[in-house]
Amino acid sequence: MSVNYEKRYQELKETFRLEYQSPPSLLHFLEKDVWTHTGLNPESEIKILELGCGAGSLFHEKYKRPKVVSLDLAPTALEYAREHSNQDNIIYMQGQWGGDFPYFPENEFDFILDAHCLHCLIEKEDRVKALKQAYEVLKPGGWMGVEHMVSHSGMEFDAPYQLFNNTLYYAGEPQKFIPHSIEIEEEIKAAGFEIRYLRVFETLKIIPVSGRATPLRSDPDLLRLLCIKTEG
Ligand SMILES: C[S@@+](CC[C@H](N)C(=O)[O-])C[C@H]1O[C@@H](n2cnc3c(N)ncnc32)[C@H](O)[C@@H]1O
Repeated sequence: MSVNYEKRYQELKETFRLEYQSPPSLLHFLEKDVWTHTGLNPESEIKILELGCGAGSLFHEKYKRPKVVSLDLAPTALEYAREHSNQDNIIYMQGQWGGDFPYFPENEFDFILDAHCLHCLIEKEDRVKALKQAYEVLKPGGWMGVEHMVSHSGMEFDAPYQLFNNTLYYAGEPQKFIPHSIEIEEEIKAAGFEIRYLRVFETLKIIPVSGRATPLRSDPDLLRLLCIKTEG
C-alpha cells in the first residue's frame, strides 16, 4: 500500500492549487553534480528518462535539446503537465515505475533521473523491480541519478507522523521510505549498477511532511548518488 497520488492531484486540481514548481534541489543536482560528473552534454540530443515527474518536467524551459520522457503514474498531474508544455522534446507518459512500466527498447536512455520517486516505493520488492527496470532501459555506459531521503540519528517527526521500519507513516498510512544511506547503496549495487558518486548532505534536507515549507534539522538528510551501467 502507498500514497494515492492521483487522488492528491485531483484534490489539488479541484481546489485550483495544482501547479508545477521545479524542485530546487533536483535542479541543483543536475547543474552542480550530474553534468559535471557524468560528462553528459545537456546541449546535445541525449535521451533522458525522468521518473516521477509530477505536474511538469524538470527539463522544461531550460533544456531544449535532450529527448526527454517524463513518467508519472498520476494522469491528472500528466494532463496538467501536457497542457502547460510548449516543448516537443518532452513526452509525458503514464506508467508505474516498479509496477506496470511502459515498454521501452532495451539500452534506450543515456540518463535516468529519479525525480524523488524511488522513496515513494516502500515495498522492497517494488524497489528491486524498479531498479531492474531502470537498469534494462539504460544504455551500457549510461548514468542514473538518484536523490533520496536518508535517515540520521537526530530525526524526529510530530504525530500523527511516525517512523517505523524505515517507513514514514501518516496516521497509519505509509508515505515514504527513509532508510540509512548504506541500504540504498546496497540496493543500487544489487541491481547491477556501479556507483561513481555518493554524497549525503546533512545541511540539505528533504521535507517529508506536507504543509511545511521550512526544513528542520530533524528532517531526513539528502543523499545524491550517480551510478553507471558498465559496458560489460
Ligand atoms: C514526491 S513527488 C515528486 C514530484 C516532482 N518530481 C518533485 O520532485 O517535486 C513523487 C511523484 O512520483 C509519482 N510516483 C509515485 N510512485 C510512482 C511510481 N511507482 N511510478 C511512477 N510515478 C510515481 C507521484 O505521482 C508523484 O508525482
